Amino acid sequence: MSNLINNKLLWEDYEESILIDKKNVNIFKISLDIYQIIKEHFMLVLTDDELNKASKFKQESDTKRYVIGKFCTKMILAKMMNKKPADIHFEFSEYKKPYINDINFNISHSGDYVVIAFSTYSVGIDIEAINPVLDYQELIHQCFNGEEIKKIIDLDSFYLFWTRKESLLKATGEGLINDLPTINCTQEKTERFGIFYELKSFKLNDGYFLSIASSENQDIYKYWDLKTLTNIINFP
Ligand SMILES: CC(C)(COP(=O)(O)OP(=O)(O)OC[C@H]1O[C@@H](n2cnc3c(N)ncnc32)[C@H](O)[C@@H]1OP(=O)(O)O)[C@@H](O)C(=O)NCCC(=O)NCCS
Repeated sequence: MSNLINNKLLWEDYEESILIDKKNVNIFKISLDIYQIIKEHFMLVLTDDELNKASKFKQESDTKRYVIGKFCTKMILAKMMNKKPADIHFEFSEYKKPYINDINFNISHSGDYVVIAFSTYSVGIDIEAINPVLDYQELIHQCFNGEEIKKIIDLDSFYLFWTRKESLLKATGEGLINDLPTINCTQEKTERFGIFYELKSFKLNDGYFLSIASSENQDIYKYWDLKTLTNIINFP
């Protein structure tokens, strides 16, 4: 199992002067702490529908994760497309995957993090906080096939396959399907509807699993740690 975890994940500090190369798969990791910086500004960038949704969560942490995901995605897309963040409006696919026509992106959030993937090709991302007391045996047969189950020997391998499958379904835009075991994520490449996806998985130091599914073999993945947005007052 461990050979399926890519270990060479090096997060680079992202500063706003850095140009984002659209040819790469760009992954951003954002801590919920950034909410303190963006809380005065996000209402200038999110749409009324998004603000309405943000206000409806019962848990404050859910509001923060949602707002950070939407706001930072728009900020980064604005920079990549040379637009104003408030001018970026998401459309939604049949299964509610947010998208724009120019660049592919996907958002995931769990615990203290929001992660966002950007790519020229279809991309899906999933982060999950590891629950050390999760009774994963209960879920195994609903989600995984025999080949996968043979490889699920502990909590780490469970989260590895869980995030892989989720990232693949987020790349295709399906989100969730009824017959999860029909998908096989035991290899680093898998196929869905005639398209091949590359799967990358990481265990983060502080108790998270992260997987990325990309529809093309991309040479360069960049992993950015977005800790602050210093030019934020210049937006939108
Ligand atoms: C909604 C879903 C896409 C992801 O849910 P999740 O894992 O709870 O949440 P994540 O944080 O990873 O992703 C949520 C984000 O995905 C995006 N998203 C929503 N629908 C999507 C879809 N059909 N495809 C791709 N991305 C989608 C949205 O940006 C959403 O965030 P937002 O509402 O804050 O904008 C859906 O797959 C789901 O409900 N999954 C349940 C988990 C499960 O049973 N997984 C089985 C894995 S084996």
